[in-house]
Amino acid sequence: MCGIVGYIGKQNATPIIIEGLRRESYRGYDSSGLVVFQNEGVVCIKAIGKLENLEAKLLNQNLNGTIGLGHVRWATHGGVTEENAHPHTDCKKNIFLVHNGIIENYAALKEKLIQKGHKFSSETDTEVLCHLIENFFRGNLEEAVRKALQYVKGTYGIAVISRQDPNKIVAARLSSPLLIGFNGDEYIVASDPAAVITRTKKAVNLEDNEIAVIAPEKFFILKEKTPQDLEIDSGEAEKGGYPHFMLKEIMEQPESLSDSLRGRLLVEEGLAKLGGLKKVEDKLREIERLNIIACGTAYHAGMVGEYMLEEYAGISTDVDLASEFRYRKPILDKKTAVLAISQSGETADTIAAIKEAKEKGVMTLGIVNAIGSSITKISEAGVYNHAGLEIGVAATKSFTSQLAVLSLLTLFLARQRQLSLVMGQRIAKEIGRIPELIKQVLINSPQIKELAEKYKNFNNFLFIGRKYNFPIALEGALKLKEISYVHSEGCGAGEMKHGTIALIDENFPTIAICPSDSVYEKMISNIQEIKARNGPIIAMATEGNEEIKNLVKDVIYIPKTLEMLTPILSVIPLQLFAYYMGVARGCDVDKPRNLAKSVTVE
Ligand code: F6R
Repeated sequence: MCGIVGYIGKQNATPIIIEGLRRESYRGYDSSGLVVFQNEGVVCIKAIGKLENLEAKLLNQNLNGTIGLGHVRWATHGGVTEENAHPHTDCKKNIFLVHNGIIENYAALKEKLIQKGHKFSSETDTEVLCHLIENFFRGNLEEAVRKALQYVKGTYGIAVISRQDPNKIVAARLSSPLLIGFNGDEYIVASDPAAVITRTKKAVNLEDNEIAVIAPEKFFILKEKTPQDLEIDSGEAEKGGYPHFMLKEIMEQPESLSDSLRGRLLVEEGLAKLGGLKKVEDKLREIERLNIIACGTAYHAGMVGEYMLEEYAGISTDVDLASEFRYRKPILDKKTAVLAISQSGETADTIAAIKEAKEKGVMTLGIVNAIGSSITKISEAGVYNHAGLEIGVAATKSFTSQLAVLSLLTLFLARQRQLSLVMGQRIAKEIGRIPELIKQVLINSPQIKELAEKYKNFNNFLFIGRKYNFPIALEGALKLKEISYVHSEGCGAGEMKHGTIALIDENFPTIAICPSDSVYEKMISNIQEIKARNGPIIAMATEGNEEIKNLVKDVIYIPKTLEMLTPILSVIPLQLFAYYMGVARGCDVDKPRNLAKSVTVE
């Protein structure tokens, strides 16, 4: 979603800001803008569409200012127009501001400011902040920002500059990430570490309600903070020879899975070691119910987790869409823990759901990929995915990592309860084999590419699976629709006959996930039902199953593993299928239309 980059130092600010914005743009955006202070005055330029459109407008501007702000916007309040793009400014064009988040009480504030004579030029909630700061400005920018923010309800990460108090950037946050990178005598303010990582690894993460003042000769955040090393590798933000981040991230799953598992499996003891849960280990022994909350792909991971946790740990588990959790009035008691799953750790609905759970006094846990993100800060304990930076908008390696962490969590909780040492050893050993098995799945990627070529002109798809692979049917359909804009539905194979089967004909192919597991026979019956209605079928089966070739023409094989771990393997051909379908249909697979990597609005 929206991204902020600010620069203050001795270099030309513009190329540094543009490069930072490019590195943030993977989150999804629809317009961009930049403001720079220079001797000749202030230059503020905006463009709709791709960042290249902004760059084209900057070409003949001869920009050389050493302080500036940039922004990529994902529209919420007001359409995709230059007027609504950031930076925004006040009546006197003294204050320039970029903002991520939502000002919930903007309408009331706007009305009051209009009554006081302020003139607005955009439809955004953000512009209210400029006029509010203008209202309090008496020559000192941080003072004006501090006073203005007292009146604001909502979420924000902001960076502000003023022509009448130049040579400083004031930055502030509430529930929207913001960090300040330090590189000798230059500072970079950004909403995403990817924007600073090529210039410096030293950074301070702003905490909620903190206001930072960043000037060449001084930097303070009300209380002193020591710069920490950012835990990402600058190489992660590159495509590494692949045409798209999505393909790179699919292909690196053997490594990302190994990273997720590193140091966490004790095969001899049949245990999982999860350092992030140490402080709540005893409390977890008492837990009788788990309520998983998540959105999108992370929600599908939670659904797989439900099957694992109930089957092996014997813990009754519910999975809720974070956006619906608060409306359900869930029954939460001292024996319940709420577990949030989120790649970004910044998803507004998931954050709101955790806050709701905390309000009710229950233990909150997180499975999160982004280090230091908001969810890691507000939950009581949790487990990091360590899957590395994920840039493609579609979640791929973060999903398999979420499944791996859920399998570790299941082992951990199951061994606290009834699971035997022998079974614990068996599960731990098999989890440890998964990165190797993923390599075997990836070897078949040329076959999946051929299948995508063969099926690329179909405009509807059905995905079916049962038990552990029911959520994978949903995930396969989500991946295909978001990447290739092809209509696709995921369905429990048993549920199909209650309605969805009406869609099936020779133009409506089905991908049937049917590994050799406890529901295999039932899946075969469902495949027969589709065949009888002339529906084309691609089956995903376990290596060695030759019999299935008598039933369907197109078969994708995956290696044998424990039933609970099959989803980690079965989802990968579906990620590849969505990717190759998207490429074949000419879609922007890394940045699908209308989507954002981190959904920071409810
Ligand atoms: C789909 C996808 C989204 C996210 C969802 C939650 O490919 O990426 O459905 O899974 O927006 O995001 P996180 O995991 O960051 O909370």
